[in-house]
Amino acid sequence: MPTSRAHSFNAAAARYAASRPSYPPAVFDAIEECMGRRLAGARAADVGAGTGIATALLRERGADVIAVEPGDAMAAQCRRALPDVPVLRGDGNALPLATASHDLLTYAQSWQWTDPTRSVPEALRVLRRDGTLAIWWNTTAFDVPWIRAQHDRIAHHCGTEPKPATRPDDDTAIRLAGLSGLRVTRRQVRWSRVIGLDTHLANISTRSAFLVLDQSRNRAFLAEERRRLREMFPDERVEETYLVDLLVAGRQ
Ligand SMILES: C[S@@+](CC[C@H](N)C(=O)[O-])C[C@H]1O[C@@H](n2cnc3c(N)ncnc32)[C@H](O)[C@@H]1O
Repeated sequence: MPTSRAHSFNAAAARYAASRPSYPPAVFDAIEECMGRRLAGARAADVGAGTGIATALLRERGADVIAVEPGDAMAAQCRRALPDVPVLRGDGNALPLATASHDLLTYAQSWQWTDPTRSVPEALRVLRRDGTLAIWWNTTAFDVPWIRAQHDRIAHHCGTEPKPATRPDDDTAIRLAGLSGLRVTRRQVRWSRVIGLDTHLANISTRSAFLVLDQSRNRAFLAEERRRLREMFPDERVEETYLVDLLVAGRQ
């Protein structure tokens, strides 16, 4: 069963669509390189598609893409954003897709909500023999001091462990390779975006660890963040830096 955190995004679907970061073109270049083919014409399913951020980018590359999303409000938001893209209800543990039907399955920030003992066999079932599974996350750029400090404050607020400064987060890759028998390639892509302070704070407020907390405590936390960040960014323009952690698994 999905956890309540996995479902939490539905309470904030519109805010999610308006404030969450996208993904840079280099992610899709790397996927194409690992696949040994262009995305144009590839039959792709974006799983845990949410509001369709990655789905839209796959479509821009010419992929024949559908979205798979378990959440009501996230799926509805995705349909509004991408009226021409089929949005199927379902999740990675039981894909509503035919066997050997797809060249590419993508999970943008959603693989962690699956049970890999189910989602890996499902991916292998749905992918064609030379198909590819691509999983990625926008991770924190811990070498940027204000981002590191903010990460620690958020972790403290949410009662979670701050992540270590360097992230030798190879466990997912090793587990994926072990369960699938596929070759797993890992790439990292650094990128940034400059956004208004309001959007930055809204982005923080759409994190699952935040969404399951008491909203009045969250409001107080965000008001304090606003105060701090105004001192740091008087023009209220904030540069968020991310490191995309990309895993591409296939027989290539
Ligand atoms: C952080 S959001 C990522 C959304 C989108 N892919 C993006 O890049 O913004 C995580 C999404 O995973 C979905 N999800 C939850 N459980 C899932 C599961 N078992 N399999 C696939 N997706 C799941 C949630 O409903 C949510 O839309």
